[in-house]
Amino acid sequence: MAFARTTADWWRDAVIYEVYIRSFADGDGDGIGDIAGVRQRLPYLAGLGVDALWLTPWYPSPMADGGYDVADYRDIDPVFGTLEDARALVEEAHGHGLRVLVDIVPNHTSSAHPWFREALSGGPGSPARKRYIFRPGRGPGGELPPNDWKSVFGGPAWTRITEPDGSPGPWYLHLFAPEQPDLNWDDAEVRAEFESILRFWFDRSVDGVRIDVAHGLVKAPGLPDIGSLDGKLLEGAGDSDHPHWDREEVHEIFQGWRTVADAYDDPRAFVAEAWAGFPERLARYVRPDELHTAFNFDYLMAPWRADHLRRVVDESLTALGAVGAPATWVLSNHDVARHVSRYARPQPDGPVRSLADLRGPADLRLGTRRARAAALLTLALPGGAYLYQGEELGLWEVEDLPEELLQDPTWQRSGHTDRGRDGCRVPLPWSGDGPPFGFSSDGAGTPPWLPQPDAWKPLTAEAQDRDPSSMLNLYRSALALRRSHPALGDGTLTWDSAPDDPVLSFVRTPGFRCVANLSGDPVTLPAHSEVLLASEELEGGRLPGDTTVWLAL
Ligand code: GLC
Repeated sequence: MAFARTTADWWRDAVIYEVYIRSFADGDGDGIGDIAGVRQRLPYLAGLGVDALWLTPWYPSPMADGGYDVADYRDIDPVFGTLEDARALVEEAHGHGLRVLVDIVPNHTSSAHPWFREALSGGPGSPARKRYIFRPGRGPGGELPPNDWKSVFGGPAWTRITEPDGSPGPWYLHLFAPEQPDLNWDDAEVRAEFESILRFWFDRSVDGVRIDVAHGLVKAPGLPDIGSLDGKLLEGAGDSDHPHWDREEVHEIFQGWRTVADAYDDPRAFVAEAWAGFPERLARYVRPDELHTAFNFDYLMAPWRADHLRRVVDESLTALGAVGAPATWVLSNHDVARHVSRYARPQPDGPVRSLADLRGPADLRLGTRRARAAALLTLALPGGAYLYQGEELGLWEVEDLPEELLQDPTWQRSGHTDRGRDGCRVPLPWSGDGPPFGFSSDGAGTPPWLPQPDAWKPLTAEAQDRDPSSMLNLYRSALALRRSHPALGDGTLTWDSAPDDPVLSFVRTPGFRCVANLSGDPVTLPAHSEVLLASEELEGGRLPGDTTVWLAL
């Protein structure tokens, strides 16, 4: 294994690349990305300069939610490959100096999981039902859902079952799609099963685990109505007693998981997908005896505004620093509109949760320019970072996918009012002049599972490889510098711009300054001995608007 960082705390400043596997690279020509495709592209990822890969779920699944509906946590879906392919991928990634994280989905299984099938077929009173959350309905005939909880994808969070004898039965909880029944984490068997699943993958040399919906596992006793708390979590009511998000009791589960990870000689790491109301709540997931890191969604949702970004950076570093945990900065993932498209519109004062929070037509040139500046800002901050596949190519959100091709359950469940997340999941453009842009092997008959825009021609990895000023080469240069420069990665920063300055400037030791100009106008560069890297060409010693520069002091 040739890791660039071999220390026990590699996770404190790793740059981790999210591989949304069905859209990364298709090795067998069926139009869907797979393990063979990832293996072929490992040299590209190593050359990009990232430290690790996070692979989204690859388990057998009916794919009601892109694989986040898992039917068997210890195998691979045939559309992606086999367990042997997975083993080979981990081994080859290690050979390239890349660590590998897998995605574990503990809040819910697929409704096709043997446990849920058993729960349904067992009939009333079946002990198999205690692994899930079954409740009688309200109303005289039990025809109303047990409480007022809503599915994240729209509609009620409950579905009523029909008993094997044809009579109407109880309801089961699904915070996501009906094909994703929530597990009952009060059940000892559920807890033991997931610790065993962790060991299964750690025993297969996987270096870490991304935990899906980590903030959702524990539900309040009695499952009380949410009432006026609905939607409050994201608005900052983070210490409220929400009945199913971010409950205090989840932490005990993750302390147990940490014990599992720490039993291995080579350090294994967790990253939590935890949506908490504010940074102090998030920090509770990454206390020393708990998970290692958590995604920083406040940063992801920040508009491209200096005051907002600076506040998020400060609050995050303070809250995480108080528990000794590093920050992990992230701009995009498979659940949100790509940041080129978010930054392409006038920026609001508050957080951006979806394109619906933004107004005005998209100016993709501006969005791309800001995305370049954001990349250098992000990679200069203390801690680790997550990149989402395709951001290094400057891909934008595909906002005009034909409705009949949309696959995200959000589209159906919202009554066709929310197009969902397919626009950030369009298969990557690798090479060539038109779709499938090298995504599928040559001569493949099946087109990519979502259509790629013809306008991605200049954005293929091949086209950008030749262009020294491309987004791809900006990321490569930044990652190479980040790896070699002693000031970057884990550590601290000191601002040397005023809190309300539209130019963000901070110093890191030894000898490094990052200046991000979020004002519309050029500014004079501060003193420096050398320009290490800039997101745009400097204008005669001045830093243009929407540009970030790395300076040696
Ligand atoms: C997480 C995943 C998302 C999925 C949901 C339900 O938020 O990132 O893609 O739909 O969990 O598993």
